[in-house]
This record gives sequence, structure tokens and C-alpha cells, in this order.
Amino acid sequence: MSKKAKMKDDGNYLDDVENEAITKTLEAGKIVREVREEAVKKVKVGESLLSIAEFVENAIVEKGGMPAFPCNVSINEQAAHATPGVNDSSLFKEGDLVKLDIGAHIDGYIADTAVTVDLGDNENLLKAAEEALKKAIEAIEAGVETTYLGEIIETTILDFNVRPVVNLTGHGLLPYIQHAPPTIYNKKLERGAKIEEGMVIAIEPFATNGVGKVGDISKVEIYSLLKMKPLRMPVERKLLKEIEKYKTLPFARRWIQTEKADFALKRLVAQKVIKEYPVLAEISGGLVSQAEHTVIVEEGGCKQVT
Ligand code: CO
Repeated sequence: MSKKAKMKDDGNYLDDVENEAITKTLEAGKIVREVREEAVKKVKVGESLLSIAEFVENAIVEKGGMPAFPCNVSINEQAAHATPGVNDSSLFKEGDLVKLDIGAHIDGYIADTAVTVDLGDNENLLKAAEEALKKAIEAIEAGVETTYLGEIIETTILDFNVRPVVNLTGHGLLPYIQHAPPTIYNKKLERGAKIEEGMVIAIEPFATNGVGKVGDISKVEIYSLLKMKPLRMPVERKLLKEIEKYKTLPFARRWIQTEKADFALKRLVAQKVIKEYPVLAEISGGLVSQAEHTVIVEEGGCKQVT
């Protein structure tokens, strides 16, 4: 359909687009909020990581959304991009610091939220991330600088005598794009960007008792499509056909039904058709906590959708 054909006589086309974006983002937000609250109650010593991830992803669908990315279940020094593999048998253990990062979308409009569950004695670390998130959200309004939000997050976490993870960031959300500008650092930087009215942004402070940096480890369970390309081998083409439905959103190895999936995934990575998201872990082995909400930026404040 042409652009002109979509226009209404009263010229309210942009308003309609905006309303649709807000309605669907709020709907996705309600879904992840409910699912997060239910999932937190299920994280217990002896419970399997896989059962939590599957519960989260299935519950999102039952409530009328689609997962915006695989449910991340990151333990202890792991900070992000961890999700159980096929037939993963690992269980939550006494002392684990568990992060659940949950995303849902309605027609591409994404809500992203994360929570830490403490199965040990790390209340301080958990509170640091939660308090930083709360204070950052209180400061969000149209016109505020990302550097200012970074400063709030950094100083709040330092007040708990732990450190922010400086190379993990909050981000904007756009239809089917899970990491859009602006980037919201968890520390004060010299230069940033202005937060604008109508932006959908996810704020996600990470706190650690380590040095405050994450790096890749060799484990990969999450991928996303980079670009469509003609492929030679039938298994490659089958895999591409299967993952097309996720558009540009991340998907899990676990979700793939294609035969010889591991081989086909490697081939697609080598041809830069898909990208890998290696698990990110604190480089000094420090424990990591996380808290995250999605908000819609308004004049003079923001609306928390998760
Ligand atoms: Co996020």
C-alpha cells in the first residue's frame, strides 16, 4: 500500500501511528509485568532453568504476545545473553544470584524488563540495581540527557559500596528492534544524547561486587538475523526459512527445529546471515545483579509500562 493511501483526510495519520505504538507497547508491558511476577515465584533451589525459561516464553504467548527475545536466565557472574540450551538440565542452587530478563512484543512493539532473584545472601547487590533503576526512572522526562541518567545510576550503585557494570547499557526500543538509540550507560559519560518525548526506552542498571566489566564467554545460545542472502545448502535454506519469522529479533538455539541445526547455525554465522550473542559474564567473576523497566518518555515525566 502506498503512503498516500494510508493518509486520512484529517491528516491524523501520525497520531494514529503514535497511538498504536503506545497501546501495543502498554499491552506488551502488562504481559511482561504479569509474567515476571509469576516467574519470580518459581525461581527456587532445585528448579530447572529450562522450566523457567519455557514457562516465561509460553506464558507470554498465552497472554497474547510474542517473546521479543529468549528468556534470559543468567546466574551469578553471568550478566546477559544466557538462556538454557536444548535439554539443558541445570538447576538453581543454594546461593545463586538469578537474573531473569523478559521481553514481549505485540506486532513488533516491545516491552523489556528484568529482575534479580536472590537465592543466597546478596540483598545489598540486588537493592543497588533496584534503587538505581528507581532513581533513574524518577529523573526521566523529555529533554533529559542520557549522561545525567548514567550519573544517577552510577552514584546510586556506588552508594551501596558495589560497582555499576559499565559496558552494559539501557537502550531505546523501536518496532522489531530491541537495541535502538539512545544508549543509556550505567555511568556518567562526557557526551550522550537527549531523551525525547515519545521515545520508548529500557533502563537497565547492573551492579556487581567485581571490577564492573563484562566480557564474552564462549557459550552461545542466542542469535539474530542480520541480512537475508541466497544460500546454497538445503539445511541452510531450511534454517533461514524457520528463523525469518523472528525478523530482526533475537531467537534461541532451543527454538530451532531444523535438522542439523548446529551445523546450519554455524554456516549462517560464517556467512554473516545471523549474528551470535555470546553469554556476557563479569570479567573478575564478581556477582552481578540487574533491574530493568521500559518507559515511555513524556513531557515532564514518563510512563512505566512494565
Ligand atoms: Co533490555
